[in-house]
Amino acid sequence: MDYFNLKFEKDKLTFIDQTKLPLVEEYVTTDKYERIAVAIERLEIRGAPAIGIAAGYALALSVKNSNENFFIAYERLRQTRPTAVNLFYVLDRMKFFFETDNNNQNYPSLLNLAIEIHNTDIRQCEMIAKNGAELFKSKTKILTHCNTGMLATGGIGTAFGIILELHKQKKLEFVYACESRPLFQGLRLTSYELAKNKIPNKIITDSTAAYLMQKKLIDAVIVGADRIVRNGDTANKIGTYSLAINAAYHKIPFYVAAPISTIDNNYQSGEMIRIEERAKEEITRINENYISSPDIEVFNPAFDVTPAKLITAIISDRRVYFPPYKFT
Ligand code: MRU
Repeated sequence: MDYFNLKFEKDKLTFIDQTKLPLVEEYVTTDKYERIAVAIERLEIRGAPAIGIAAGYALALSVKNSNENFFIAYERLRQTRPTAVNLFYVLDRMKFFFETDNNNQNYPSLLNLAIEIHNTDIRQCEMIAKNGAELFKSKTKILTHCNTGMLATGGIGTAFGIILELHKQKKLEFVYACESRPLFQGLRLTSYELAKNKIPNKIITDSTAAYLMQKKLIDAVIVGADRIVRNGDTANKIGTYSLAINAAYHKIPFYVAAPISTIDNNYQSGEMIRIEERAKEEITRINENYISSPDIEVFNPAFDVTPAKLITAIISDRRVYFPPYKFT
């Protein structure tokens, strides 16, 4: 593949600036944790597993020159985005490692752990793809939302990894991808990854999904997740809940694909998930140009929660879970 998302080399993290894709492929290289924190906030780096992996490298870099920075960096990175649990999973895992042994408080040890977390995600993506593809027996038309590919993870992706595997196994007929307002992760990023992988597809506006289902043009919906709680309720990109309701009405299977690190066993139900609200300019402007009056009121949640009862199965690297959800 002629693009990558995150690469750690020569004591620096290089990432592709996703805010500029697909028109400009620009990479940023840094060894500053603060630059990585800003990249996560600005969505230059985005997607639940990817922000966790980047935060791991950021924490390792924070001790490169002085270990006094570790806890400041930890707190700073925690403030970047609230919804995806992968971020907190990685930060807390690295903090635990740092605190359990003085020998763990140096840059090489922390970097090894960050690399291990990255490599684990690569393997988990492969397993999700394999487990997910087994659910499909014949040529299928998939609807997906947001971006769940290489750009959102350390590996081939979650929902997108399944799409790739179906394509490889010649079980994929077509992909419809929602544009995913307001930041167009589907229009800009999923279309980019589908094209790079030569997968037949069309991008639709988010509001076209129900019409496609009614026309029997969708066999299954597969989406990713930012946080899956104990009862299976799932936070994902805003609009996912509408897709799940529409899929249930049309009796179309609705699958969520995510690594085990996206499961948050601390929360019992979806009401406990903090949903990030983002700036109103994400809606009122496109590329810095206002498309509405600048002073209108806007409500801009980045995610919503799909109740477990609308989810046909949760496809993880460990196995495929069916309701009632119990993550063992
Ligand atoms: O706001 P984003 O672009 O970080 O939102 C990403 C999503 O909602 C993805 O669907 C989710 O993180 C799963 S990525 C494998």
